[in-house]
Amino acid sequence: MKRTILSLIMVCAALVNTLAQTKITLNTDLAKTQISKHIYGHFAEHLGRCIYGGIYVGEGNTRIPNTAGVRNDIIQALKDLKVPNLRWPGGCFADTYQWKDGIGPKANRPKMVNVWWGGVTEDNSFGTHDFLDLCERIGAEPYLAGNVGSGTVKDLTDWVTYVNHPGGSPMSELRKQNGREKPWSVKMWGVGNEAWGCGGNMTADYYANIYRQYATFMTDWDNSSKLYRIASGASDGDYAWTETLMKNIPHKMLAAVALHHYSVLSWTDKGPSVDFTEAQYFKTMDEAWQMEEFIKGHSTIMDKYDPQKNIALIVDEWGGWYNVEPGTNPGFLYQQNTMRDAMIAGLTLNIFNNHADRVRGANLAQIVNVLQSVILTNEEKMILTPTYHVMKMYNVHQDARLIPISIESPAYEYQGKKLTAVSASASRNENGVNISLTNIDYTKAHEVTISLRGEEFSKVSGQILSSAKISDHNTFEQPQKVSVKDFSGARLEKGVLKLTVPAYSVIVLNVRK
Ligand code: AHR
Repeated sequence: MKRTILSLIMVCAALVNTLAQTKITLNTDLAKTQISKHIYGHFAEHLGRCIYGGIYVGEGNTRIPNTAGVRNDIIQALKDLKVPNLRWPGGCFADTYQWKDGIGPKANRPKMVNVWWGGVTEDNSFGTHDFLDLCERIGAEPYLAGNVGSGTVKDLTDWVTYVNHPGGSPMSELRKQNGREKPWSVKMWGVGNEAWGCGGNMTADYYANIYRQYATFMTDWDNSSKLYRIASGASDGDYAWTETLMKNIPHKMLAAVALHHYSVLSWTDKGPSVDFTEAQYFKTMDEAWQMEEFIKGHSTIMDKYDPQKNIALIVDEWGGWYNVEPGTNPGFLYQQNTMRDAMIAGLTLNIFNNHADRVRGANLAQIVNVLQSVILTNEEKMILTPTYHVMKMYNVHQDARLIPISIESPAYEYQGKKLTAVSASASRNENGVNISLTNIDYTKAHEVTISLRGEEFSKVSGQILSSAKISDHNTFEQPQKVSVKDFSGARLEKGVLKLTVPAYSVIVLNVRK
C-alpha cells in the first residue's frame, strides 16, 4: 500500500514537472484597438537571391513559370499569405539605389555594383514597374524606401511624382511612355534607411534636419493618397535617436518612426541556423523577447511628445539572423529556417499585437532567400518555411480588434536564467475570437487555461505548428516536414478553455457562439 501511494506521488510530481500551468484571462467585451494589418508586412531587398532568382526570374525564362518575369509559385504563395505591405528596394541597398536606372527598356538600363551585398553586378532588370505591378498582383501595399544617403531631394521627389502624379508633369509623362497610364498611388515612403549606419552614418540631429528637408518636397500628387512618411528609426534600444526625431521633426510631417531589431546571438558569430545548442536557442529567445522592452522604451518617449499616439512606431526590420549556410556567398545572407524561427515569429507577433496602439506596421526581414524568410527557392523548386506557416496562421489578427489579455506563465529556465514561456494575443473579427499562443519552452509542454470574460461561446477549433525537434525545418527534398495541422485538443467548458501547448509549438484557436 505504502509503495502504491509513493508511486502515485511520484507520478503526480513528474506530471507537475512536465506540465507547467499557464493562466490567461481575456476580456472579450473590451476589444477596442485595431491591430493594423500592416504589422504583418514583409521586406524585399536587392540582396543575394531575394529579388533575382527568388522573386524574379526574367521574362524570357521558359523553365520557371512566371508572369512578367515574376515566379508564379511566389505570386500564389504571397497571395495566400495575405501580405499587407511589401518594403523595397532595401535596406542598405535603398540608399545606393538610383530608381531612374530601373525604368524603361530593360536592355538599355545602366548596371551598378551592389556594394553592400556581395559586390555583385545589379542589372536593374527588376525596377519600379516590376515591383509595383507585383504588389498589385499579390494585393499588397507597396512601401518604397527612398534614397536619402546618396541621392538628392530631387531624385526622391521625382520618384514620388513618377509613381503618383496623374498626368501632365514630366515624370508622369515618362511613366506613361514606359507603359503605365494610371498612377500607382503609393502611400508608404521611407525617408532613408538606418541613417545612423549604412544610410549615411548621420547623427540624429543631422538626420532630423535632412528628414524635414526631404519631407517638405515629397508632396501628395494624388488626392486619394496622403503620403505616409516613415522616418529612419533607431536600432534596438537607442532611445536618444527616437527622442531627437520626436522633438525636432514637426509632427504634421511625420506619420511614423521606424525601429530595427534583429534576434542575433552576437554580430561577430551569429551561430548556425540549424544545428544550434540549447544555449544558443535560449539566447535567440532572449533577443526575441527584448522586442517588448524596446517597444515599451520607444513608446514611452513617443508618448511624451505625442500622447494622442498619432505617430506610429513601425518595426520595419525584424527577425532571426544567423551565419549563412555553409558554402553560400557570405554577402547573400541565405539561412535555413527552423522551428526556432517559428518561435521568434509567434512570440514577436504576439508582442506587436499587444502593442497595437503604437505599433502599426512591421516588416519581417526578408521575404525570400534572405535571413528569416517565409519562402526559400532553389532554381524551379520552392518551399514554405515554418515562419511562413506562423505568419499565415496569425493573419486572422489582421485589422481585427485587439482583446486585452492578462497572462501568468511560468518561466522557461536555462542554467538559472528565465524567460516567460508562453506568450499570447487575442483579437475579434466577424468570425469570432482568435487566440494565438506560442510556447518557447525547449523541454516542457504547458497546460493553458483561458478564461473568456464578457461573453459566452460554444464552439472552438484550432491549428497547430509543432515538430519532433526544435531544429526541424523544411527542405527541397522534404518540403512538408514542418506543416500546419488541425488542432482539436482545446476543451471549452463554462467559459473556460483548456488545452496543452507542446514544447516549442504555436497554436491559433478560434472560438465562436
Ligand atoms: O536586412 C539586412 C540589412 O539589415 C538591411 O539591409 C539593413 O537595413 C539592416 O542592417
